[in-house]
Amino acid sequence: MTWTMARRAGRLNPSTIREILKITERPGIISLAGGLPSADTFPVAAMAEATARVLRDCPREALQYAASEGFGPLREWVAAELGAQGMQVDASQVLITTGSQQGLDLVGKVLIDPGSRVAVEHPTYLGALQAFAPYEAEFVPIEGDDDGPLPDGLQAARGARFVYLLPNFQNPTGRCVPAGRRDVLVARAAELGLPIVEDNPYGDLWFDAPPPAPLSARAGDAAVYLGSFSKVLAPGLRLGYVVAPKRLYPKLLQAKQAADLHTPGFNQRVAHEVIRNGFLDTHLPQVRARYKVQRDAMRAALDKHLPAGCRFNVPAGGMFFWVELPSGMDAGALLPKAVDAGMAFVPGAPFYCHAPRLNTLRLSFVTVPPPQIDQGVAALGGVLGAALEARR
Ligand SMILES: Cc1ncc(COP(=O)(O)O)c(C=O)c1O
Repeated sequence: MTWTMARRAGRLNPSTIREILKITERPGIISLAGGLPSADTFPVAAMAEATARVLRDCPREALQYAASEGFGPLREWVAAELGAQGMQVDASQVLITTGSQQGLDLVGKVLIDPGSRVAVEHPTYLGALQAFAPYEAEFVPIEGDDDGPLPDGLQAARGARFVYLLPNFQNPTGRCVPAGRRDVLVARAAELGLPIVEDNPYGDLWFDAPPPAPLSARAGDAAVYLGSFSKVLAPGLRLGYVVAPKRLYPKLLQAKQAADLHTPGFNQRVAHEVIRNGFLDTHLPQVRARYKVQRDAMRAALDKHLPAGCRFNVPAGGMFFWVELPSGMDAGALLPKAVDAGMAFVPGAPFYCHAPRLNTLRLSFVTVPPPQIDQGVAALGGVLGAALEARR
């Protein structure tokens, strides 16, 4: 049989990270590649108790089909939580999604026509590029500096359907946009009539001080906001949320109904049962403390093992270091050598919508503990040192 595939199937690409994760499953490899939260932070006991309570108190409802919008009390919880961060959110604007990754797909489905322009940071979260590409978006890269995307860069996005922004501890660069830059970005986008899609899975993972208020707190109904429970509870729950302006919400909801009817109601109830009485107030400080120690361990390891000419920023939260190698080096070409040396990273290229900077790579500091961080970075340093030596 000759199967004729839709044009969009040609734009579905394997996730580079998932492909790399397959390599890293080989025994003995220290993987600093995947964005996997530390499994030691998963609240196993609280989940077990909450699961038992849900099955005892409301088994029939929890195991039944449920509302596409999400579990009411969880939507209320999200609205209140975001309210505390300065956003004005009514629970009726909250759509619980199957991970925030689904939120990205729904946004693409509702807002992107073939050929629509979509502005993205350069580099940006490659999962968003993967989500938007099948809808045949034409990406407009927005250059940035250590403080985030440059407001002047938005000019090139005039007429785009939206700009996709990650102001908190961005994946992949780890950068956090200061309050002043946020004000200017939102004002500039408003002048251009450019809607904002704000993605914030890492905002709660700050080490010294919480990040400034979300862009959405400044942008009103000019922004869609995406959040996630993956990094604060557990990614296996597949729970995220979209907060949408009233005009957009019904279409996102209908797109979700077409995709999966609703987000697993059982998971929503268990997650709500875990968090409803302030669990995160004690859980998150523990996660932050652990990740800060690991961030410091990776910083020390990078200082110790990376050859001269490599550059990195120290992230104030989140999960990633972004490393720039001396120009002319190709991180992708060095990955097999790194794997042979016992470690893995993600090359930076797939995070760029166009014109990838091949001399970049991303390292996760949260997945493995400090001794392995040092060992993994030492192996990377050895591979980079040998490659630089070979160029001389
Ligand atoms: C920036 C960003 N957005 C969205 C996601 C998707 O998260 P999830 O679907 O687990 O909520 C991730 C996952 O790593 C991410 O880094």
